[in-house]
Amino acid sequence: MRILTGLQPSGKLHVGNYFGAMEPAVRLQNEGEAFYFIADYHAMTSSQDAAALRANVRELAIDFLACGLDPEKAVFFRQSAVPEVNELAWLLSTVCPMSLLEKCHSYKDKIANGISPNHALFAYPALMAADILLYDSNKVPVGKDQKQHLEVTRDLAVKLNETYGEHTVLLPEPIIREDTAVIIGLDGRKMSKSYNNTLPIFGEEKPLKKLVMRIVTDSTPVEDPKPVEGSTILALYKLFASPEDYATMVSQHEQGGTGYGDLKKRVAEAYWDFFAPMRARREAILADPGYVDDVLAKGAARAREEAGKVLDRVRAAVGLR
Ligand code: ADP
Ligand code: TRP
Repeated sequence: MRILTGLQPSGKLHVGNYFGAMEPAVRLQNEGEAFYFIADYHAMTSSQDAAALRANVRELAIDFLACGLDPEKAVFFRQSAVPEVNELAWLLSTVCPMSLLEKCHSYKDKIANGISPNHALFAYPALMAADILLYDSNKVPVGKDQKQHLEVTRDLAVKLNETYGEHTVLLPEPIIREDTAVIIGLDGRKMSKSYNNTLPIFGEEKPLKKLVMRIVTDSTPVEDPKPVEGSTILALYKLFASPEDYATMVSQHEQGGTGYGDLKKRVAEAYWDFFAPMRARREAILADPGYVDDVLAKGAARAREEAGKVLDRVRAAVGLR
């Protein structure tokens, strides 16, 4: 079974990204042949800044490896290291009705927000379909926001097969992570860069712990019981603490006598300790300057080998051979 997913390089990773995307991907690398890539072409649909792109790609590669991606198990590469994906995107475009792309939320949202969309943003789902179909992927784990793009991918796969023969490309299955896993941010809304309510995974101890003190609470006095339902402190603590420590904090909420400041300090400690192994791995990776390039080069070679096979088959089917 081949499992494929892509992550956009878009700056500092936060706790929501970790539990929502990285940790599930790291778990899945044991369940099949994982192909994980950094979606650098996709990132260019919304930002055209060469230095930032270069830095963000490197940062994401380091962070993903630090979080447990094992290059012995998973094929890890940059999307753009396999330029064959553009050829398949083109072939898919030829069977892609305009109306299919016009329906896509990511495109419609930009228009609704008054942003003038570029052609790449419009064509984005066709490129994403190519990412998936180029590797004969069986399973594609994604967040709920990507569900529609997976539907487009399947539509295009069916269309290509109807047009050129039923085994031209393989029909992939999405694995949609449903909303149960939404991690909330410091202000109680979904944790997101766009809300400026995130806890980064990596950074310096003092500023990171200080961020935790910004968790928004009500103004229950120290001695009074505090609401458990809807408590951001508890929701975040649950991610980092053992079940016993979590239960202790729940009863401290119920009993009263502990102030929000003290409770937050415990969240800060647990948060810092939780990411200690990842920080240690990150330090080790940084100490070996060639390591990341080496991993990505090996991953790209392996991915290209696979892409070449699939693309040859598709070229033959469509009449380019
Ligand atoms: P942001 O909202 O900060 O811009 P992205 O949209 O770049 O985050 O998300 C990248 C990945 O992380 C996606 O797969 C998404 O599902 C996951 N993710 C982001 N925020 C959360 C969250 N608060 N809870 C769970 N998963 C999240
Ligand atoms: N569009 C995805 C996102 O923004 C990233 C992505 C690109 C992807 N190509 C993919 C995810 C292929 C899964 C499969 O999160």
